[in-house]
Amino acid sequence: MRMDIAALFPDICTAVLNASITGRAIKEGKAQLFCHQLREYTENRQKQTDGYPYGGGPGKVMFVQPIVSCYEHVLEELNPQAQGLPSGENSETVPPDNSLVRPHVILLTPSGKPYTQADAVRLSQKENLFIICGHYEGIDERASILLEAEEISIGDYVLTGGELAACVVADSILRLLPGVLSSPENYEEESFWNGLLEYPQYARPAEYRGMKVPEVLLSGDHEKIRKWRQEKSLEKTQRVRPDLLENHKKAPS
Ligand code: ADE
Repeated sequence: MRMDIAALFPDICTAVLNASITGRAIKEGKAQLFCHQLREYTENRQKQTDGYPYGGGPGKVMFVQPIVSCYEHVLEELNPQAQGLPSGENSETVPPDNSLVRPHVILLTPSGKPYTQADAVRLSQKENLFIICGHYEGIDERASILLEAEEISIGDYVLTGGELAACVVADSILRLLPGVLSSPENYEEESFWNGLLEYPQYARPAEYRGMKVPEVLLSGDHEKIRKWRQEKSLEKTQRVRPDLLENHKKAPS
């Protein structure tokens, strides 16, 4: 997978995603990551990336031009055979749309669709992702329309910018790529994979400050352990996220 992130503070994404497990995946070539500074794609002398909204109102809106130019730069890199792509003036030289490699575009915004593990699984199957980090009061609507962006929110709260949200989404996708986690059980057992929250886990010591690890986990009886975990998983979901349990019941097993 190639992942491009367009941001006003790309260093945030570079720092976060080049660390830990995602960093190792990138170093090992399991994914390519390019974080772009949107300011470098501006076409005004002041390198301004935002302006006051038409119609008035608070804050500033990110300009459409640097975002589309950054996307087109990536498009050119993905399609080295298609010269002069995709400016309107020489569109006669541009091959038909369906022969171009086009990244799937994601826009991080609090007004997007709530992000779930199912989205992470779906997006991990894409070859190319172009992720736009919104800022200020949002971005010019035309960027989202032109690039056919999938608008995603990571939760019902507002961050100062989309960079942290992009890191969350990118991390959740990169860890699902083949070979990134040591074994697929790592994620097949975890919260949300089967629509439930994960059961409680314990490691050494068997007793800490008088708190003992549940006997069943020391029993070596795998069937009993499986049942206990399933029970705990259901119990916790019921207590913390009863909404998930409703969907779990509806889903065909
Ligand atoms: N940008 C600011 N807040 C956000 C959120 N909750 N999700 C995605 N992008 C954001």
